[in-house]
Amino acid sequence: MYIYSTQCMPTEKQKQKSKQPRKFWDKQPVIPLTEKILEDGEVDVRENLTTNYIRDAPYKLPTGFKWDLIDTSCTAQLTELHVFLKKYYNRGVTRGYTKEYSIETLRWGLQPPGYFPDWHICIRQESNNKLLATITGIPMKIKFREKEIMVCNINFLCVHPKLRTKRLSPVLIKEVTRRIFLRDIWHGIATGSVPVFSPVSTLSQYCRPLNLEKIYELGYVPTHKNTSLKLFKKVYSLPPITECTRNLVPLGKKHIQSAFHLFTEYVKQFELAPILTEKEFEHWFMPRKGVNHTFVLENEKGEVTDLCSYHDIAFNIHGHYKYDELKSVYLHYSISKTVDAKTLSSLWMSIAKQQGFDLVEGFDNMKNKEIFDCMNFVKGGSSLYLYMYNWKCRPLETGQIGFFIL
Ligand SMILES: CC(C)(COP(=O)(O)OP(=O)(O)OC[C@H]1O[C@@H](n2cnc3c(N)ncnc32)[C@H](O)[C@@H]1OP(=O)(O)O)[C@@H](O)C(=O)NCCC(=O)NCCS
Repeated sequence: MYIYSTQCMPTEKQKQKSKQPRKFWDKQPVIPLTEKILEDGEVDVRENLTTNYIRDAPYKLPTGFKWDLIDTSCTAQLTELHVFLKKYYNRGVTRGYTKEYSIETLRWGLQPPGYFPDWHICIRQESNNKLLATITGIPMKIKFREKEIMVCNINFLCVHPKLRTKRLSPVLIKEVTRRIFLRDIWHGIATGSVPVFSPVSTLSQYCRPLNLEKIYELGYVPTHKNTSLKLFKKVYSLPPITECTRNLVPLGKKHIQSAFHLFTEYVKQFELAPILTEKEFEHWFMPRKGVNHTFVLENEKGEVTDLCSYHDIAFNIHGHYKYDELKSVYLHYSISKTVDAKTLSSLWMSIAKQQGFDLVEGFDNMKNKEIFDCMNFVKGGSSLYLYMYNWKCRPLETGQIGFFIL
């Protein structure tokens, strides 16, 4: 079931393919896949962008379609988005499994402090208001090597299958870009499962079972032929709960200041990392039921010394006789200072298992590879390209990226 891949950066074949003209991307401030990047910086100077790109009115849509906003403060509209993405947003998903972003996860992901409602864009059918395509953006300050830049973090580009290959994506991208420029932000960051232009880095996905019987039965994690359940359990069992686990407590309001300090210090080591305000940190890290989980270890003074966080994502399973859902968690941050990476990982994974999750997944950014190696993770099939818009940069190793992926 699980598809292996050893691919990390775009392959030669993909690069060759990308030599063919790209009607849209060739005119954007991005670097083609085939070009070697020797220095960092803006691709297009701002004055150029201002004259060429910013228009007052939205881009024209084909007859019968109209622009609209998804009001993420309205549960009915978030539900509509949730259903649309559940049906059609299946990027980089393993065969037979489709990812499901819950309504609350979408609320969390799209409403950080200072978000702009007019960056949550959709296209509807004029006659019946049917949702046909989406693209979203949230503002974020990032550190890129020695520079600090404001970016728009783009997500949820999705076009109804009946309208695919009709070039709605370029219109959506241009329209969101127009609105970003109007707010005096000139750069973007996004991830994608296909190589379109030169990525900053290419992340690999890893996973590890928690619910051993279920994952074994599903065959989600590949094993050698004839591997017995007994052996599978031996390989993937987690250490028993220890006294130390009980000290791992959910992040609470009282921890915010010291946890924020720990986070800020931690991300300084990476070349590409978010620069969060305390308010943003609270947004991304405070536990939310069914959305994200953060646990901390405290010292005797009550200061946070270690932190781990993950968010939960469910997969719908198609065509299995017994199971229709896979409850998975995505590693967000695992910051170990007073215990080693393996101990902290064993602790939070034990908690995730107790919470009823079946699987842990994560990308090899930050120091995660260390965790994957010592906790028997398996490399999965998906590569994730990390892109920047109007920012050329010498490629980064995945371990130089402290940016979290939703
Ligand atoms: C991705 C998706 C929106 C593309 O739609 P499409 O109808 O195939 O493509 P369109 O005809 O609208 O547009 C084609 C152009 O958009 C670009 N494009 C397509 N997918 C893209 C992506 N994920 N990121 C950036 N550009 C993309 C193409 O490269 C092409 O431009 P080019 O001629 O310069 O190469 C659509 O396949 C979809 O909704 N997939 C499911 C959700 C998904 O995978 N979203 C992407 C998340 S990264």
